[in-house]
Amino acid sequence: MKKGLKILGVSIGLIVLLIGIAVIFISANDIPSYKVEKIDFKVNSSPEAIARGEKLAVMLCASCHLNHRTNKLTGQKMMDAPPEFGEIYSQNITQDKTYGIGEWTDGELVYLLRTGIKRDGKYSPPYMAKLPGMADEDINAVISFLRSDHPMVKADPTPDVPPKPSLLTKILCRVAFKPLPMPTEAIPLPNADDSVELGKYLAHNLDCFSCHSADFKTNDFLNPELSDGYFGGGNKPLDLQGRVMLTSNLTPDKETGIGNWTREDFIKALKYGQIKGGKALTYPMLPYSQLTDDEAGAIFEYLQSIPPIKNKVERSIY
Ligand code: HEC
Ligand code: HEC
Repeated sequence: MKKGLKILGVSIGLIVLLIGIAVIFISANDIPSYKVEKIDFKVNSSPEAIARGEKLAVMLCASCHLNHRTNKLTGQKMMDAPPEFGEIYSQNITQDKTYGIGEWTDGELVYLLRTGIKRDGKYSPPYMAKLPGMADEDINAVISFLRSDHPMVKADPTPDVPPKPSLLTKILCRVAFKPLPMPTEAIPLPNADDSVELGKYLAHNLDCFSCHSADFKTNDFLNPELSDGYFGGGNKPLDLQGRVMLTSNLTPDKETGIGNWTREDFIKALKYGQIKGGKALTYPMLPYSQLTDDEAGAIFEYLQSIPPIKNKVERSIY
């Protein structure tokens, strides 16, 4: 009996020790690193590319990187990151050589934006956006903007605060989150005369699907249409107080989606946050006022063409 207890005690001790070693191993090892592929890419800048890049960056990068104190993309604490992921700070991506991306090559930027691998090989967890399906021309536009003399990206020596990813994030980055493959073929712009095709491109590349499908964990960034509950809403991003903000069903279901909306209703909601007879849309649903009515309307037409999902989502109003 005594011997049995002793064996049990030793076994429990061993298991605790092994878990302890695993925890120390993973936390000491940090986020995994990958080989950085050298990308032969030189930005092809023009006033049109910079203007297009500004519009894309305001919609796609500023929500996380714009610091309202410096009015530049110097980074900030991300109040809406789920606390179980750790303490997350977006980084300084102005042209500063020490803290910003002044020393990054164009190829290194493309590689990060496509795959999620930084120039030092470290993997950037899902709290940093990736653009696997964006047209080459639009990627060129975003980088043209980052290299431009726009005040938002002018060198600013605000030091970075490194993110403090939790153990959970580090473990997930070893078992679940993986870098995306670098595209091997050219990605063309959609045909702008085909509004459904244009709308699909925008709905995927402006990341609408990632918030408006069922769950961040089951989103498929390479094939957005394969995400669980594609555009059926019910995902749970947080607001700046860390409260859940349920996302709306944007499928054409007439009862629970937007099947009864007009194109005008949609444009007003998307560009200005205005809802017929209801309270204005709130964070994290930011107004996409940079879109033209044709672009916003194209997203509407695409959404009306996808399979309806019956899923009633009550608005979170605080
Ligand atoms: C959802 C929030 C979010 C969005 C949207 C976002 N970023 Fe980031 N970004 C981050 C976070 C957080 C980090 C730090 C990630 C890390 O430590 O791995 C980061 C890191 C970076 C870095 C690496 C900087 C460094 O010094 O290591 C670059 C470059 C960058 N982002 C560019 C962009 C661009 C360009 C866009 C728009 C196309 C963008 N980001 C959109 C949150 C975001
Ligand atoms: C960061 C997450 C996020 C992203 C990205 C996002 N949305 Fe939303 N969206 C929400 C949330 C949350 C709501 C509900 C807001 C509320 O109740 O005030 C919402 C509401 C809406 C509504 C109102 C629907 C209704 O039934 O009232 C429309 C339309 C909409 N979003 C369209 C879009 C489109 C189009 C895009 C891409 C261009 C997009 N959203 C990107 C989170 C997001």
